[in-house]
Amino acid sequence: MCGIVAYIGAKEAYPIVVKGLKRLEYRGYDSAGVALFNNGEINLYKKQGKVSNLEEFAEGRDKSGHIGIGHTRWATHGEPNDVNAHPHLSGDGQIALIHNGIIENYESLKTELESRGHVFKSETDTEVLVHLIEEIQKNQSLSLPEAVRVTLTYVVGAYAIVVMDKNNPRQLIAARKSSPLVIGIGKEDDYYLASDATPIVEYTKNVVYMDDEEIAILDLDSGMKLVDIANQEKTPYIQELELHLEELEKGGYEHFMLKEIHEQPRSIQDCFRGRLNAKDGWVQLGGIKDHIEKIGKAKRIIFVACGTSWHAALVGEYLFEDLARIPVEVEYASEFRYRNPIIGEDDIVIAISQSGETADTLAALDIAKKKGATTLGICNVVGSSISRVTDAGSYTHAGPEIGVASTKAFTAQVTVLTLMALSIAKERATMSESQFRTILTELEQIPNKVSKVLEQNDLIEHISDVYQNANNALYLGRGSSFPVALEGALKLKEISYIHAEGYPAAEMKHGPIALIDEEMPVFVIATQGTSYEKVVSNIQEVKARKGKIIAIVTEGDTQVKAMADHVIEIPDTDENLVPLLATIPLQLLSYHVAVMRGCNVDQPRNLAKSVTVE
Ligand code: F6R
Repeated sequence: MCGIVAYIGAKEAYPIVVKGLKRLEYRGYDSAGVALFNNGEINLYKKQGKVSNLEEFAEGRDKSGHIGIGHTRWATHGEPNDVNAHPHLSGDGQIALIHNGIIENYESLKTELESRGHVFKSETDTEVLVHLIEEIQKNQSLSLPEAVRVTLTYVVGAYAIVVMDKNNPRQLIAARKSSPLVIGIGKEDDYYLASDATPIVEYTKNVVYMDDEEIAILDLDSGMKLVDIANQEKTPYIQELELHLEELEKGGYEHFMLKEIHEQPRSIQDCFRGRLNAKDGWVQLGGIKDHIEKIGKAKRIIFVACGTSWHAALVGEYLFEDLARIPVEVEYASEFRYRNPIIGEDDIVIAISQSGETADTLAALDIAKKKGATTLGICNVVGSSISRVTDAGSYTHAGPEIGVASTKAFTAQVTVLTLMALSIAKERATMSESQFRTILTELEQIPNKVSKVLEQNDLIEHISDVYQNANNALYLGRGSSFPVALEGALKLKEISYIHAEGYPAAEMKHGPIALIDEEMPVFVIATQGTSYEKVVSNIQEVKARKGKIIAIVTEGDTQVKAMADHVIEIPDTDENLVPLLATIPLQLLSYHVAVMRGCNVDQPRNLAKSVTVE
């Protein structure tokens, strides 16, 4: 949700900033802009649309300079156009600023500044910030770092900002609150700044993840200094990045999403590597092992998450209740945070988030902490805010997910949830040893079985071709295949813009059945298990109304095959693990449909990968 990149050092800033913006484009692609300091001037280039539009616009113009700040925008205040694009300048043109987040009190600040003669060019909340810095710097004769710090004491909301000043061309000032910002410490006394580490990793592995209400002064003469909002100096905690450059490339695939779908045998394996051993019958998640006794005794577990991560939480509910016999509630983080939830010290609140930066999920955690609950995180991005504010947690180790539509992060989340459920089950002694070992053995087989599902790509592409022009689609499943149905529907709608709904199969007759006619594709997860016969009846109900059935069945199935228009077979597995396999064909199907419809698969319209605003 808006991406920030900045550079200060001896190298040319523009290529570094623009390359970084492309890596961050998944965070928003409504507009892009750069400000470069050169020969006492700030050159500002901004363009609506993608970073490539900015590059075209900047072609042939002066792009030199060793200090640069850049931004890719996901619009919140003000429509996506050239004027609202960042960077924004102060009224006197001396200061340039980029911002990710929302300034909630911008209207009152703007009115005050207007009364003091400031004139605004854009409709953004960000422009208010840079005018306020200018005003405070002039009025109080402050240095730039001080002016930024004092400005931020007036601000309500979320921000990651980088500030450049014509009068201090050897300095960049950065600050964060509730929006991520990483500092890269270069090898040549230079510095990088970005919303996440992906633009930085090819230059340095030494990074500092900024904390809330921290201000960084990056100075080519005096080096790096960190202070908090009360001006207390802080010691930077320098970490080594584990990210590899190849993980950020498409690796021969046409789209990141396709690459990430195909990475799943490996990402699931990476997720459980070193965490289980079926032969010896153990499972352990190092990150939560010190809390496992407390978790085992918890009255209740509450999952908070958004979007695809919320679907993973629903799968988690089935796993935790079935295997560990512990009551679970699954909450949309955005609802939880505003409804005065009843939680206490005996509760465990688990936040699930690929990015670890989702604003609603962070706010839900904040409430849970204030009410005394133990908080855990399941995140993919190492060092992300959620992983840092929770009491403990487990990373999913899926590697960077660049495609905006989540794929491998979902299956990795479900894998961690399975491992967690099994750990808690062991602690609570709710499973027999043989059942425990059977699931572990099955889990170890999942990567191979995912590979087998991926081999059906041609069949899935053919089915996608048949339904690519559908206007609507229904997805049905029961038990833990219900969240798989929800996830299948979300994948289709977000990347191909076809309206799709997921339902528990039996709910269909309570309303959605009215939609079924010969035009309606109905995707049904009809694998062998406790609800199989019930789902068969639901399929018959659809067929009776001439709906088209595309069924995901267990290898060797004959009953559903005889009724369905198309079937996709997945290998047999333990019922608890079906979501890890049944999800894969639905991801591939959405991908192919979107490609056939000419949609931008990796960057679907209006979406952003990391939703750091409410
Ligand atoms: C859908 C998708 C989103 C995210 C949601 C939460 O494909 O990616 O629905 O799942 O925005 O994001 P995280 O998991 O980063 O908290």
